[in-house]
Amino acid sequence: MNKTELRRLIRQKRRELTPSERNIAGRRLLKQLTARPEYLYSRRVALYLSNDGEIDPQWAIQDLWKRGKQAFLPVLHPLRKGELVFIRYARNTPMRNNRFGISEPDFRRGKQVPARFLSLICLPLVAFDSRGNRLGMGGGFYDRTLAFTHHQGQKPRLAGCAYAFQEVRLLPAESWDIPLQLIVTDQEARPLSADTGL
Ligand SMILES: Nc1ncnc2c1ncn2[C@@H]1O[C@H](COP(=O)(O)OP(=O)(O)OP(=O)(O)O)[C@@H](O)[C@H]1O
Ligand SMILES: [Mg+2]
Repeated sequence: MNKTELRRLIRQKRRELTPSERNIAGRRLLKQLTARPEYLYSRRVALYLSNDGEIDPQWAIQDLWKRGKQAFLPVLHPLRKGELVFIRYARNTPMRNNRFGISEPDFRRGKQVPARFLSLICLPLVAFDSRGNRLGMGGGFYDRTLAFTHHQGQKPRLAGCAYAFQEVRLLPAESWDIPLQLIVTDQEARPLSADTGL
């Protein structure tokens, strides 16, 4: 199956979940996250607002606020096409809709933090495999934004967030794809590695 077909199938399955199934899964996602040191010891954590049926990290965002940690959201860079920046997300952060209709912190009014200063980035995804390969929506936004992790010492940890059914046996890895170190689903949280995946 090619990437386009796989994206279509999994996105459709994701969208078919009922609101109550989404709620339960989102709360389970938080439970799995809170069992991980990568989450517990991170002070600055980037997440996302659920779109297109993605597993919903809103409970995790609330949890970060409660613990006095800082939450960040990805925002489309207004000039650098295809790149994201991370802006602080608090209860009173001014929001706007981007060109995809996704709500994001207002770039002009928000506090931007370079990705290398985040301790943990939680990425949405369409599919993942046990080696840490990630299939996104196809824009390459996260890959472009995180390309610096190839050659820079200080790196945020990258955790994919997904429903357990989004796991596939093996994804084709492209040269530009940035691998995940951790996967967190509604069922489990586990480290991923290209060395131990098969
Ligand atoms: N570091 C990069 N520099 C330039 N182009 C890139 C880079 N990373 C990815 N791209 C481009 O983005 C396109 C989409 O990449 P890919 O299919 O991996 O998207 P994705 O990982 O599914 O999407 P996303 O990361 O937005 O969730 C590719 O065709 C590739 O050319
Ligand atoms: Mg990719």
